[in-house]
Amino acid sequence: MDAIKRIFENNRAWVRETMRQDPGFFQRMLKGQSPNFLFIGCSDSRVPANVITGTTGGEMFVHRNVANQAIPSDLNMLAVLQYAVDVLKVPHVVVCGHYGCGGVKAALELPDGQHELVDQWLGHVRQVRRRHHAELASLDAEAQARRLVELNVIEQVQHLAMTSVVRAARQRGQDLHLWGWVYSIGDGLLHTLEVNTAVDEVPELARVGA
Ligand code: CO
Repeated sequence: MDAIKRIFENNRAWVRETMRQDPGFFQRMLKGQSPNFLFIGCSDSRVPANVITGTTGGEMFVHRNVANQAIPSDLNMLAVLQYAVDVLKVPHVVVCGHYGCGGVKAALELPDGQHELVDQWLGHVRQVRRRHHAELASLDAEAQARRLVELNVIEQVQHLAMTSVVRAARQRGQDLHLWGWVYSIGDGLLHTLEVNTAVDEVPELARVGA
């Protein structure tokens, strides 16, 4: 129970500190949200979206799942995306992977039959692995895992580009940029990946460069 007690103590301390630094913070929160980012990240506890980006309440709409996937048939992800783009009108949608991702590592191995649901979910990452087999086969195990983290992010951004939500937003001229990032858990740094999302009638969706 100590862990739970500590959480509530932390919460009270955070409220006191926030009120001291920014007395209007909670009043502003009551008025609504207008975040600039939708962050789609991994559920991994070492990749806390607000902490690693120096953002606070109201700045980032967040969706996280195992191996930061944006699967076009995932209603949960699509609902988050639609709300972020259509209602909140976020100008930036980010898929953020991370080196050392357990989900990506597991996708490089055969399913062990012990975690059926996770294995099923990771089938999508295995598809990414299969599509890039030639490139991955030339790398050692560690480099393979790192590269698959990057390739997985790139494919998820491309999935986003093809969703009806993003396509419709682009067609009506809404300001919307897609990004692929990788977070390095060993040094805390974020990196931008080059993502080509020139698919069909939605060219140059992604901005490239750090
Ligand atoms: Co992960």
